[in-house]
Amino acid sequence: MRKARIWVGAATLSAFSLSALVVNAGIEQGDVAVGKAKYTENCAICHGPKGDGQGDAGKALQPPPRDFTKGDFKFGGTDKDLYDIMVNGAASRGGSPNMGPFGLPLSEKERWSVVKYIRSLKTGGAAAKPDAKAKPEAKPKK
Ligand code: HEC
Repeated sequence: MRKARIWVGAATLSAFSLSALVVNAGIEQGDVAVGKAKYTENCAICHGPKGDGQGDAGKALQPPPRDFTKGDFKFGGTDKDLYDIMVNGAASRGGSPNMGPFGLPLSEKERWSVVKYIRSLKTGGAAAKPDAKAKPEAKPKK
């Protein structure tokens, strides 16, 4: 009897460490400074050095590159949506082929870092709009 209880405890514990791991596999692993560097290298040419969509190669595009300072998005707008557009291109959601899979050469951590950086560009409001289900502080329930 006592042994069984210990096993249940261990199972509960590992379930929670697992959910913590899943959360960390998302935007939580992102680093804004890394994101800024990767954004500047790969995205600023269109989305603009300040993220306002006014990059040299972006100005003439129709539809225009997203203005990240507004924080309004066309294809869902969750962290995962931004990540997916960056990796699969906007055409994968019926958008412009000009937004190609530019995040492909980046590592997963670098991509989440760019998502985090994009979030930080929104001015005049809350920078972050995390996925509702991402709750890093989740506590075990009784
Ligand atoms: C060649 C120009 C170009 C480059 C380089 C570029 N983008 Fe874009 N991006 C666009 C255009 C154009 C759109 C608008 C697509 C549309 O509305 O169909 C767009 C849209 C997006 C969106 C759509 C958001 C939404 O739901 O409204 C995201 C996210 C995005 N870009 C991220 C990035 C990231 C991150 C990089 C760098 C890794 C990048 N882009 C590089 C041109 C570019």
